[in-house]
Amino acid sequence: MSNSLEDDSDNFEVTPWKVEGAVDYDRLIKKFGTQEITDEILEKIQSFTGQLHPLLEHRFFFSHRDLDWILNKYEKDEKFYLYTGRGPSGMVHLGHLMPWFLTKHLQDKFDSNLLFQITDDEKFLFGNKTMDEINKNVYENILDIIAIGFKKSRTKIIVNSRHIKHLYSNSLEIAKRITFSTAKSVFGFTNSTNVGMIGFPPLQAVPCFLPTIIEGKPTPVLIPAAIDQDPYWRLTRDIAEKIGFYKPAQIHSKFLPSLQTTGKMSSSNPETALFTTDEPKIIEEKVSNAFTGGQPTTALQKKLGGNPGICSVFSYLKFLFDTSRESNQRELKCRSGNLLCGECKHDLSDHSTTFISMFQERRQKAKDLVPEYMYSEDG
Ligand code: TYM
Repeated sequence: MSNSLEDDSDNFEVTPWKVEGAVDYDRLIKKFGTQEITDEILEKIQSFTGQLHPLLEHRFFFSHRDLDWILNKYEKDEKFYLYTGRGPSGMVHLGHLMPWFLTKHLQDKFDSNLLFQITDDEKFLFGNKTMDEINKNVYENILDIIAIGFKKSRTKIIVNSRHIKHLYSNSLEIAKRITFSTAKSVFGFTNSTNVGMIGFPPLQAVPCFLPTIIEGKPTPVLIPAAIDQDPYWRLTRDIAEKIGFYKPAQIHSKFLPSLQTTGKMSSSNPETALFTTDEPKIIEEKVSNAFTGGQPTTALQKKLGGNPGICSVFSYLKFLFDTSRESNQRELKCRSGNLLCGECKHDLSDHSTTFISMFQERRQKAKDLVPEYMYSEDG
């Protein structure tokens, strides 16, 4: 699918279905028309949450829409819902977990209800999987969502094709107000895009409005997600007030990079990603083949130092496992030639194996809890 958001002067592309090239996040803020997360906003969050979450502190979450507005509402005792989601194209990888980690933190700190949407329809329409394959992924992905540890009493998982009767009438209100011309310019649809995809965006918009319907009063919604999902919210925000709802607010993350090159970790290319279902041997193999910012030989690395700025191994350690202090030290040692890539790979392999095996135990326990997390009209 071509993308009208792309501009010839960029050597990267970000759409809900594709992230390619070395993403320039400052430029993306300008292109998408979002706002940078300022120190002032972080201070305000910290005043509610105490310690700042590492993903905020490290600026992995870097951009927003109306985050200041939603915090002001909260200050005036207007609580917000959280809304996030997953398109079940395959197994879940560590990149997907990043927005979910922050979502859990926000749920705990703000005591928010969470709607979690699974867009099985989207992944059937966009891609080559059968509905049977997608259904298997839905089940596996639900185990990951539960394993994150969201509060059972405050979390509802919506699977589009199963819960369509709760979504459809509101999606019609939205669909009626979006022209093909707008959808084309926002998503880059072309004449060869199937009509299912063209008609899909209102379904991802609906959960932005469900909290107001559930609560019976205007209810703010905050969406934590990577910035690839922003086109959906741009469209939703355009029509929200016209149909009597608040505009949904967003907090956008960067992408956990591919293990092998630039671009994001992607489930359609398994070598680029560490999955929550990977066995230790596979994790070791993937990490040992990872792309680093190191020099081609040990002698050159010691002489010239490496470049953590382009190193996938450094990014994973920084955003997932190192403390700020450890990460700063790692960076200094690398740049000065006092750290070899093998050592960082060893650290990443160790940390990932431990984390993923712990997560697999949680996935196992989640099997008994699935029905309790599913959305139902009676709450
Ligand atoms: P999906 O399944 O592509 O991605 C799920 C979530 O993970 C984020 N993400 C990443 N974050 C960091 N690093 C990466 N490498 C990476 N890859 C993906 C995505 O931004 C997303 O937050 N259409 C959606 C499903 C959806 C949704 C939502 C997502 C429905 N409603 C509301 C967010 C919020 C999708 O296919 O996501």
